Amino acid sequence: MPLMKLSFTPGLLLLALSCSTWVVSRSLPLMPSGQTTDSCVFYARMLLENITNLLAPDDPTRMFSGMNCTRHNMELNLETNTSTVCLPQGSVCSGETTSAFDRKSCLTNIEKDLSYYYQVLSNQPDSDGTLGSSVLLPLRELMENCFISSLPTDLTSKEGSEDHSSTNGFNQRQRLCKIMKGFHVRTITINRAIGYMNLGEHTT
Ligand SMILES: *[C@@H]1O[C@H](CO)[C@@H](O)[C@H](O)[C@H]1NC(C)=O
Ligand SMILES: *[C@@H]1O[C@H](CO)[C@@H](O)[C@H](O)[C@H]1NC(C)=O
Ligand SMILES: *[C@@H]1O[C@H](CO)[C@@H](O)[C@H](O)[C@H]1NC(C)=O
Repeated sequence: MPLMKLSFTPGLLLLALSCSTWVVSRSLPLMPSGQTTDSCVFYARMLLENITNLLAPDDPTRMFSGMNCTRHNMELNLETNTSTVCLPQGSVCSGETTSAFDRKSCLTNIEKDLSYYYQVLSNQPDSDGTLGSSVLLPLRELMENCFISSLPTDLTSKEGSEDHSSTNGFNQRQRLCKIMKGFHVRTITINRAIGYMNLGEHTT
C-alpha cells in the first residue's frame, strides 16, 4: 500500500515546508540529462503553478467544485524519501541538522515520484481532458527535459488502470482531490530541491 492518508492540517504543512534553509550561492550548470537546471526550475515551476491553480477555490475548470477539496486528507506517496533526502545540507528539521546533501539520491527519489504520479494520474478518469492538459502535460515536460529515465516505457498503456465502473463520479473526484493534494505538497518539495541544486550550494 503505497499511499497513506495524512491529516492535512496547516501545522503539518508548515512543518513540511519549514524543514529547510535555502541559502543563495553561485549557479551550477547540469542536471542528469545534460539540461541546464535553469530550464528544470522552469518546468517544475510550471507544473506547480498548474496544480496550485487546479486546487484553488476559484479554479475555472471547476475540477473539484462542490467538494471542499481543501478540507480532505491528502494521500502522499510514501514509497520515496524525497522530503528527507532532498533537504539542503545544514538545514534543521525536527531538531536534527542534516548532513551532506546527496544529490544523486535526491534526483533518484524525485524521478520515482514523478513516474509514480504519472502512472497514477494517467489512470484517473479525465473526461474533459483537464487533467491531461493541466497536469500530465507539464509533468511530462518536466520528465522529458530533466528526468528522462523517469518516463514510463509504455506511455499510452491504460492497462491495469483502476476499475471505474463501481464508483461514481463524485467518489472519483474525491479520490483525485486527495491524490492531487499529496502531489501538490510533493511538487513544492521538488521545486525547492531543484532550486537548491540549481544554486549549487551543496557543492564544495
Ligand atoms: C464545505 O465546507 C463548509 C465549511 O466547513 C461547509 O459549510 C459546506 O457545507 C461544505 N460544502 C460541501 C459541498 O461539502
Ligand atoms: C527510503 O528509505 C528507506 C529506509 O532508509 C529505504 O529502505 C528505501 O529503499 C528508500 N527508498 C528510496 C526510493 O530511496
Ligand atoms: C497549464 O494548464 C493549462 C490548462 O489549464 C494549459 O493550457 C497549460 O498548457 C498548462 N501549462 C503547462 C506548462 O503545461
